[in-house]
Amino acid sequence: MKATTIIASAGILVLGAVGVAAQQQDHMSMAPDTRRPLDFPDHMRRHLLMNMRSHFEALGDIVSALGAGDGPKAGQIAKERLGLESPAAAACQKPGAKADSESSHMSHMAAMMGEFMPEQMRAMGFAMHEAASDFAVEAAKMPPGGDPKPALIALAKVTQNCAACHAAYRLK
Ligand code: HEC
Repeated sequence: MKATTIIASAGILVLGAVGVAAQQQDHMSMAPDTRRPLDFPDHMRRHLLMNMRSHFEALGDIVSALGAGDGPKAGQIAKERLGLESPAAAACQKPGAKADSESSHMSHMAAMMGEFMPEQMRAMGFAMHEAASDFAVEAAKMPPGGDPKPALIALAKVTQNCAACHAAYRLK
């Protein structure tokens, strides 16, 4: 695969993740917005959106690393910033799952967020973090400058999970 092709396909992935919001807008002009509204208090809203922007930044850094032919670096970023063990995933853990083990990762904010999220949304968040952990494993196997296809396929599962939750929920 040529580097330009790699970067182009990676770019499409990222656009896919963000495009959801814009697409949703288009549909809205013709059909009602069916996303379930979330009634979060102001500080939780800000916290959610801040988490989201950092998810998106992580995704961009992952795509850059893949474009540079560095799978292990892409995997490391995914593991630390999006994966199941990342601090951002704490709020999406099954209730009680992290209580004993790495409770240091579970900030007060994450615990509160976990309580405000509907169960289905938490499950969708968990699925996204799980896909990011799977991607990390796949990307780590990529030899320097090697074929990024398997990693890109795994990364697409992550962005599909971003999109699924965006299609289902919105802040009030
Ligand atoms: C469990 C649900 C869920 C998952 C998974 C999820 N998001 Fe979000 N995201 C939301 C919600 C809810 C909003 C607010 C949307 C609204 O109110 O219109 C949002 C908003 C955003 C925003 C806008 C931030 C802002 O400051 O306005 C970005 C960017 C974003 N998400 C990126 C991502 C990326 C990238 C991923 C995947 C790596 C992701 N999200 C996964 C629920 C989710």
